[in-house]
Amino acid sequence: MAGKRRIVVTSALPYANGDIHIGHLVEYIQTDIWVRFQKLRGNECVYVCADDTHGTPIMVRSRKEGLAPEAIIERSHAEHVRDFSAFQIAFDNYYTTNSPENKELSEKIFKAMEASGAITVKSTAQLYCEKCKMFLPDRFVKGECPKCGATGQYGDSCDHCGSTYGAEELVRPVCTTCGETPVVRETEHLYFELEPQHDALKAWIPGHTTADVSNKLLEWFDEPLRPWCISRDAPYFGFEIPGHPGKFFYVWVDAPIGYIASLANLGKFDMWNDPGVELYHFIGKDIIRFHCLFWPGMLNVAGFKGPDKVFVHGFLTVNGEKMSKSKGTFINARTYLDHLPADALRYYYAAKIGGTTDDMDLNLEDFVQRVNSDLVGKITNIASRSSQMLHKRLEGRLGRLDEKGLALVATCRDAADKIAKLYEERKFNQAVVEICRLADVTNAYFDEVQPWKLVKTDPEAARVALTGALNAFRLIAIYLKPILPVYADKAMALFGETAWTWDSLQETVEGKALAPYEYLASRIETAQVEAMIASALVKPGDSGEVSHESRASKNKSAAPSPAPATAAPLKSEIAFTDFEKLDLRVGVVENCEIVPKSSKLLKFTLDAGALGKRTIFSGIRGAYPDPAALVGKEVVFVANLAPRKMSVGVSEGMILFAGEPGVCGGAVTALASAGGGTVVS
Ligand code: 2FM
Ligand code: ZN
Repeated sequence: MAGKRRIVVTSALPYANGDIHIGHLVEYIQTDIWVRFQKLRGNECVYVCADDTHGTPIMVRSRKEGLAPEAIIERSHAEHVRDFSAFQIAFDNYYTTNSPENKELSEKIFKAMEASGAITVKSTAQLYCEKCKMFLPDRFVKGECPKCGATGQYGDSCDHCGSTYGAEELVRPVCTTCGETPVVRETEHLYFELEPQHDALKAWIPGHTTADVSNKLLEWFDEPLRPWCISRDAPYFGFEIPGHPGKFFYVWVDAPIGYIASLANLGKFDMWNDPGVELYHFIGKDIIRFHCLFWPGMLNVAGFKGPDKVFVHGFLTVNGEKMSKSKGTFINARTYLDHLPADALRYYYAAKIGGTTDDMDLNLEDFVQRVNSDLVGKITNIASRSSQMLHKRLEGRLGRLDEKGLALVATCRDAADKIAKLYEERKFNQAVVEICRLADVTNAYFDEVQPWKLVKTDPEAARVALTGALNAFRLIAIYLKPILPVYADKAMALFGETAWTWDSLQETVEGKALAPYEYLASRIETAQVEAMIASALVKPGDSGEVSHESRASKNKSAAPSPAPATAAPLKSEIAFTDFEKLDLRVGVVENCEIVPKSSKLLKFTLDAGALGKRTIFSGIRGAYPDPAALVGKEVVFVANLAPRKMSVGVSEGMILFAGEPGVCGGAVTALASAGGGTVVS
């Protein structure tokens, strides 16, 4: 291998105002795999990231929760760190943009930009609330869309028709804080002039990202580059601009500087400008403009080194569609982990990531199938079958490699350069194909040498056969280490080794005792996926997050807007004698579970006291996505309803649920037509 490379890698900084979701993880998992690969190869690779803490969304949240922005960002930081580490994302430093290092660097870079003549001041008209005494950012003003007339639209774009506009174009605007009508006022802002760098940037772009990204970017160079507004008026949660009291850096100015600040906080600031260090940013395709235009422009005039490459990926879709709260596919990292192992997602994402800007689909059926058939059935089975047979029948000791075993090991080893190249080029999907091919070859070897038969007739020959299979598995596990680091560490422990590197591929293990087999991966079930979707479902009536800014998934408009609190029309009146026919009893929910293959039904087991146990199917899953939460609750049910045969079983009664108008009430028709249970409100 050539000399040790020195590399700095970043992933985009997640906003501090939201949870980490599976869309974000497309980026962090792929960066982590790449970084781990570099480390496995023996390169010095430093992976830095941070929370992106400044700007309007955090102010909106702060007001909503009545908490200081600092308290919110501290809480998010802890949550983000917890989620990332559960997904085995190993940053060398995970910092915050609200740091002294970042303030100092932002000021320094700005002053250098200003000194170079790249900063101009211009006056612009903006909405101002006289009551709140502030200029209104887009998310602080609502009104009617100037294009389609939809009401309740924010100052930047219309959720209804999708058009974008300036806040001052809104019809009948109101301040979302106090409800007053804002006025138009002039204010001065600072601009970063990019046009002087027109030719320099145009020449820089093609060598620093992939061709598709570069071609798209170069389209903008047919015209002069427009100046970029880099200031915001007070009050703003961020850094005040030196020499410009009352003006703050727009969040997108200090966010990328946060990469350098995180590196500085690690004590490795010098790596940034070192010409011997490679610098790479991993980002989503929605933030190309910031990373390939403004950012290199800023660094350039400030005398800093720019990135060597910007690696751009696409968005995540789930089952072929945008992530959606109402479909339960807007899945937070935490929700995923409540139901499924991190390794399964890491493996599946790796199997799909190809280093391009194409969107990537998480097809949930395919996910279950691939994890079970490839990771568990094909790969892990080699280790579990072989080591367990060795432990049970052959004192857990490896033997030597015979000719067949050596040939198998050679086949696995020969793939090293190809797999390394694929990792390097971020074609993880192809690396996984190659690794699975080696598992196929090993399984074919296993079937051919038949150790389970040999063990009865010639135990020493069986030992040799198993030694071949286990050596092949060892190489496969080393190849998998960037994707499944915890898995690989357990596999390494099986062989009694302490540190695998890429060079470990050249070794074989013979004659030594295996450690006890520790479970590596187990099958995942469709029911786990269904339970996860049920937990992620946003009930009708939930308003969801405030201005959730997504990155790897474009789903701003996917969140359902709050259901209007209008009552469904009443059915015709019934007589008291009709009502009297109902025998209403109280039961305790002993068990409640999701009915597989049904999006609506929950299956209840009620303890109805002297009446015994009742099984009741109820179509209320939309209103109660977490069935476990209902266990132990007392419910009223219609005890004398004739048992009803449904496709999933017999329902012996009907449970009455009460809910707030617009929540359960909105679900009445769906429930009644589901036939199993109903709701009264
Ligand atoms: O799009 C986003 O989620 C931003 N928070 C990314 C910032 S990346 C960097 F430039 F800081
Ligand atoms: Zn106001």
